[in-house]
This record gives sequence, structure tokens and C-alpha cells, in this order.
Amino acid sequence: MSKSSKVKPTPEVIHKPSKEFSAKARIPSMAAYKKLYKESIDKPEKFWAKEAKELTWQKPWSKVLDWKAPFAKWFDGGKLNVCENCVDRHAFGARKNKAAIIWEGEPGDRRVITYGQLHKEVCRFANVLEKNGIKKNDRVLIYMPMVPEAAIAMLACARIGAVHNVVFGGFASEAILDRLEDSGSVAVITADGGWRRGKVIPLKPAVDEALSRYTAAKIKRVIVLKRTGNDIKMVSGRDSWWHEEVTEVSNKHVAKPFDSEHPLFVLYTSGSTGKPKGILHTSGGYLTGTYATCKYIFDMRDEDVYWCTADVGWITGHSYIVYGPLANGATQVMYEGAPNEPDFGRFWKMIEEYGVTIFYTAPTAIRAFIKAGDHFPAGYDLSSLRLLGSVGEPINPEAWNWYHKHIGGGRCPIVDTWWQTETGAILISPIPGATPCKPGTATHPFFGIDAAILDDAGKECKPNEDGRLVIRKPWPSMTRTIYGDKARFKKTYFSDYPGLYTAGDGARRDKDGNFWIIGRLDDVLNVSGHRLGTAEIESALVAHPAVAEAAVVGRPDDMKGQAVAAFVTLKSGFQESEHLIIELRNHVGKLIGAIAKPDDIYCTPGLPKTRSGKIMRRLLKELVTKGEISGNITTLEDYNVITALQEKVKKK
Ligand code: WT7
Repeated sequence: MSKSSKVKPTPEVIHKPSKEFSAKARIPSMAAYKKLYKESIDKPEKFWAKEAKELTWQKPWSKVLDWKAPFAKWFDGGKLNVCENCVDRHAFGARKNKAAIIWEGEPGDRRVITYGQLHKEVCRFANVLEKNGIKKNDRVLIYMPMVPEAAIAMLACARIGAVHNVVFGGFASEAILDRLEDSGSVAVITADGGWRRGKVIPLKPAVDEALSRYTAAKIKRVIVLKRTGNDIKMVSGRDSWWHEEVTEVSNKHVAKPFDSEHPLFVLYTSGSTGKPKGILHTSGGYLTGTYATCKYIFDMRDEDVYWCTADVGWITGHSYIVYGPLANGATQVMYEGAPNEPDFGRFWKMIEEYGVTIFYTAPTAIRAFIKAGDHFPAGYDLSSLRLLGSVGEPINPEAWNWYHKHIGGGRCPIVDTWWQTETGAILISPIPGATPCKPGTATHPFFGIDAAILDDAGKECKPNEDGRLVIRKPWPSMTRTIYGDKARFKKTYFSDYPGLYTAGDGARRDKDGNFWIIGRLDDVLNVSGHRLGTAEIESALVAHPAVAEAAVVGRPDDMKGQAVAAFVTLKSGFQESEHLIIELRNHVGKLIGAIAKPDDIYCTPGLPKTRSGKIMRRLLKELVTKGEISGNITTLEDYNVITALQEKVKKK
């Protein structure tokens, strides 16, 4: 791991923020960044307490940080209501009539919701939840399309102290069931369907299917939003319509204070082993982290129109659609559908239409836009933009340069933001008015974030030496635990170097101190910015009657970043065929969701194993990456397996 990498971080073109941008920015220069960074690392508690004080607390904290590694308590003794901070704070003052959410549905329908209106809607829905017996600490599963009601449901949960558990609408019933069971959810909020590429994508049937097999806890209610009007089954006594529920309650609701460490949400994400883990985030620290990063990294201001293209089903949607921007009182655009509906001009048309000033998207989307052609963005006026963001995977320099030129008009800084579901908020990113950027690096740590790259022995790596990315000090928005599994939490994140958070990413720093993220070091794939565990896909494959054994690895892909390659051995009586391959792909789609469907499936008489019987995924990875095996294979049990596979992969 600690060998010097042959790949040098090039090209070394440096983009400095423009004078105009820096002049107005909160952090106007690299000197200002360095000064505040040093202060924040010398005294992190002082830095974070100052940020937290900008929020509304119903009771002040008695201690900023209580750190008994790996367990943190931030702002202990303090009480706040996260929803009040995101909504009420703005709903009664100067921002009452300010647009909070400018929503556009895929078919073109629109809604503008002001902070005043958002407050009423959230209060109503909080009353609906309480009327249905949903209480503080209850887990509520949310499975919705990208409509304002998804954010309203999350905020209403936060308001009453219920813990939301949002499941991305692209996941299948099996994934819903796993999350229901692991979290012990007692209510579901869903919709009949959502729009995607001109088609209705039904959602309710997957919920019905999952609930038919869910026995772990009693479901108090399933609330269904009518979005698409497709025919669905309503189970009497269990299901009710959103629009009917909200007419029966008042639009007034008093936000009670909760402990700073009160759980806010669980969000499931893939790990290297086993089923997805429920990443738990709590209230005061999480809100402080998302609030402060929005303020400094997106330089968010009242006059901005911000747009993050993520789905609320991912952490990016939680932190940078719902909590961060709303805590800042921002105006934001929210969009329901696909970027290419009706064509690849959709995003640029919306930027022109709404005068978007800050735009945050993923490298995989940028690569799709490059492929679609420059004429799409060229057809629209994008001069309102002043800042661009990127998230989810390393942004390759080609994509960075295209984004900078064709979307940012050469004038907008780009913030390449590195973070994770577990970190809650951005940890490494340029500060837009300050940081000189080289395409492809997430540059420097945010204030209060003590990031470092260590070798296997725990020593800090030298410049340009590859190592493991760690965070040495706790930060407010860090995950507090894996839901229901403290031991796994400790083992996953704090056992490589005791007391230090290991991100699971490989990285290196250049001589200027920029962090270059190389990618995951574990068996986690990053497919189009979506995180998938190889173990999950493998267990979906072996659940098929034809499959005896499966091994899944990632291979580089120009568009998706990584593609999924699967190797399967078949049970006797089953023959390899094109039909079977299609069936296996669909089977994975059905069990996990379309994003997990393997791109390549190779049937093989055997998998490469060590003499002790462990599948050597490293070899399979090398095979799909380079087409052959070069490394040490002396531990291999049966060499013929590899020669046969090499032929197969070459033929593809
Ligand atoms: C993994 C976390 C952060 C929200 C979306 C993904 C990769 C994320 C970057 C970036 C290079 C990145 C890492 C990380 N990643 N952002 N700017 N540069 N890699 O959250 O699903 O928890 O995935 O995404 O590998 O560990 P997630």
C-alpha cells in the first residue's frame, strides 16, 4: 500500500479563484484559509462551537465535545430542534416569502414553496405523524420520488424526534425489507410512483411486497402520496393517502427541543462485507457540520439559487438538499427526473430558467454530458452560475476542464468535495474564494478536519506516496455508530489505527499538500457515484437457483467510473447461455435495484482460490482491469482456472 505510485497527479494546471469571486467571498484568500485552518486544528472545539452558535438552541450545551474514542458526543447537554432550525427560523422573519424550494417535476409541472408555506406544510405533516401514533425515536422509512413531500416528510420526522430512514426510490423490495428489518421501522411514507425518462416508475408495489414479509415490528401506518395517479392497491386499516391525512390536521405545531445527540436519521450504505450498514447521524453536530460546510464551501448567500442534482435517497440529498441549505435559509431548485428528459439540455434549460447560481452534481453526470455534446449547454444562457461543485467519485481532469469551460464559462470556481455517508458533511474541498485548484484533486481539508494519509505502519506518507486516508480528530457531523452494532462500527472505522477514523479510501498528497483521492481500498464499488458492496451483489447472485458461487469485482469504466464484473460458477444441470446471463442481471436488479446489475457476467467452471479456499478477488480484478494476471499467484490452488478465465475475458 505504501509504495510510491507510478501515476503522478497531473496535469499541474492551477486555476486560481477570480478576483471578483474572492473579493466577495467569506474566505477571500489562501492566507485567510490557512490562518483559520490552523486555528481550527489547534482548537477544534472553539471553531465548531462558534459555528454551532449560529444555530438556534433551545438550551445551550454544557460541553462542546465528549470524546471517548470511537464514540463522540457533541454539544452535550444542549437541546435543539433540527426542523425548527431549517424552517421556523426563516418562516417568520425576512425570509417568510422567500422561496425555499423551487420544484420542477419531470413532466414540467412546477411548484414554488416559500419558507412560510414550508413551515405550514411541515407542521401539518408533523401533526399527521403524531395523529398516527408515531413518536419520538420511532423509525420511519421514507421511499419517495424527488418531490418536495420527501423533504417535508424528513423534516416532519425531525420535528417530532422520529428517526427517518430514507431508501432510494431505485432500490427494490428486498432492499426495503432489509432496511425495515434492521431499523425496526414502524411506519412507511411512500408514493404511488414517480416520473423517470417519461415513464411512471411505480413505488408502492415494492413497499407492499416488502411489508408482506415484514414481521419484526408492527406497522402503525403507511402514508401514500398521490404523485403519478397510477393504479395501486391500498390496504385498508394500514394505508392512507397523504392528501386526505393533511386535511384533517392543523398547520400549527410546536417544535419541542431534543438532545443534541438525539438520533436524526439512519441511512443505509454498502460496506465491504455483509448487508448494508445503517449509518446513524444525530442532531446538533450533524446540523452544525452541514450548515457550516454549505456556508463556507458553497459560499451560500441569501441571493443565491442553489441546485444539487442528487436524490434525497443518498447522503448528498440529506446534507446538501435538505439540512444544509435549509439551515442556511437558501433558495434551492429540486428536480424530479432524469437529466436527459426530453434531452441532455434539461439541466441547462433549468439553470437558465431559474437563474441558478450554485450547481452541484456528480462526475458521472458530467461525463454523460460530454458524450452527449457541447451543443446542449451552448444552447442556453448559463451566465447566472457563479460556483460549481462535484461529488461522489474522483473527477477526472477531462471532466473537470469540460465542466469549467462549458458550464462554468471559465469563470466559476469548482469545488471537488470529498466526503462519505459516514462523514455526514464535506471534509475535503476547495474553499471557493481561496483555494487554487488543480483539476482532479479535492485539495485541502475543511476547517477543524485533521486529515492525513498513513502507511501500513501508521506513519504519515511522504508527498506523492499512496496510503490510507484517515481523520485524526473527531468532527461534529461524524456518524455516531452503525445502527444496532457498535462493535461493527468500531471494527469498520477505528481498528486500522486505533482511535483514528479510517475512510476506506486510498489517497496521496502532492508537494503542495493537496489530497488526491484514488478510490476505495475495500470491496466497495463506486458505480456512477453510487456505492455498492461486492458482497451484496454476490449474495444476490447466489440466491439464484442456477448459481453455485459468485465473485464480484469492479473494473474501470469511462462513463460510470467503475462497472460491475461478476464471475459465477453454475450448479450442475445449468448451462451457460445468453438467456441465463440476462436472467441473472435482472435477478440482481430485482433483489437490489437496477444500479447493481452486473455489466459483465462470466460463467466459469471454477473461481481462483487460495489453498485455504478464499476467493482471490485481487486476481479477478487484475484480470478485468488489465486483461491478464501478472502478480504473484503462487498461493493459487488451481492455475488452470485462471488461464481459462483469461481466454474468456480477452474474448469480450
Ligand atoms: C465514497 C463515499 C459523499 C457523498 C456521495 C458518496 C467516494 C466521494 C469523492 C470525491 C473522490 C469521492 C469515496 C468515498 N467519493 N466524493 N470528491 N473524490 N472520491 O457518498 O456513497 O458514502 O461514498 O465516495 O470513495 O469513500 P458514499
